[in-house]
Amino acid sequence: MKKSLVVLAALATATMMAVPASADETKMVGISMPTQSLERWNRDGAYLEEQFKAAGYDAKATYSDNDENRQANDIENLINADGADLLVIAAINGESLNGVMKEAVEAGIPVIAYDRLIMNDGTSFYVSYDNYTVGTLQGQYVVDTLDLDNAGDKVYNIEFTAGDPADNNAGFFFNGAFDVLKPYIDAGTLNVVSGQTEFDAVATAAWDEQTAMERMQNILASYYADGTQLDVALCSNDSTARGVTQAIESDYAGDNTVLITGQDADEANLANIVDGKQSMTVYKNLANEAVATLDLAKALLDGQEIDGSIIENAGWDFECAYDTESYETSEGHTCPSFLLVPTVVTVDNMVESLVDIGEYTQDEDGYLHPAH
Ligand code: BGC
Repeated sequence: MKKSLVVLAALATATMMAVPASADETKMVGISMPTQSLERWNRDGAYLEEQFKAAGYDAKATYSDNDENRQANDIENLINADGADLLVIAAINGESLNGVMKEAVEAGIPVIAYDRLIMNDGTSFYVSYDNYTVGTLQGQYVVDTLDLDNAGDKVYNIEFTAGDPADNNAGFFFNGAFDVLKPYIDAGTLNVVSGQTEFDAVATAAWDEQTAMERMQNILASYYADGTQLDVALCSNDSTARGVTQAIESDYAGDNTVLITGQDADEANLANIVDGKQSMTVYKNLANEAVATLDLAKALLDGQEIDGSIIENAGWDFECAYDTESYETSEGHTCPSFLLVPTVVTVDNMVESLVDIGEYTQDEDGYLHPAH
């Protein structure tokens, strides 16, 4: 709803008395995505915009080039110029939106934190995939594939690459993977040759591919140049996995295949999986994430009381948990969260998991391409 419409409606009501209280006003949903440079957010923005429009709302998606000031500015415009009645925000930096969050709260605009939590108590709800589980799936894949429980005296060398410290998700992904792998590190079955096991040491600013590549090149030059084998590169997502894969292709002296994990089913990474350069990716169906967001937004805009019952009532054909404990916007203040369930994609199940559900197509050479 545009401000000008509010004013007009108010004037009309005042002068004509009989005008119904803006009965047919179309609600406006402002969608703020972090960037177009990381593949998934293009799909998120498009799905959200499409689905809100199809449901009869006005909707506008903005992309902020991974620049947190620009995102604050974009959101400010969605509130003031576009007259947003509800905001859906995937934050670049979860800590940096306090100014616009204050404006939204004061204007009574509900805010759904989309995929990434906003560290502000004004956040109404959080819709995401279970981020900790994403990490555990990556860790468990390593345990199962290398059969670490039966490794005997064998030692596997591993390096970690995590995400952007400004993104609240990144710590969850890393902790999920690390918690699964730590017992094997403690037992000596996994050896982190660089010694870099703290999140801050392995993080990648802005989830940037090039940054991840350069860090891995340094590690390979410092610890693996003598032919020491690298067995596992645990990467939190596909953009970092691409950087690490390039570093391994150009700078790795060992002769074994390195097990590389990822997340997002980015097109280039699926090609790497087909080519045997990456082992797995964690898939999060973005169309489902958008559907959950849409149904929650509808309920919020209709002024409904919201709790976990929305999950049963909505009749979604995907799993989702209502979680009121895991995500804090400030110490002691939790944000009610709707968490969808991620899955593992490998070369063996990619057609069934991605093509058969209509989200990707497969070409004659076996490579997958996003269907939308
Ligand atoms: C998302 C991931 C994505 C990463 C970088 C995270 O917040 O949950 O799916 O890989 O951002 O875009």
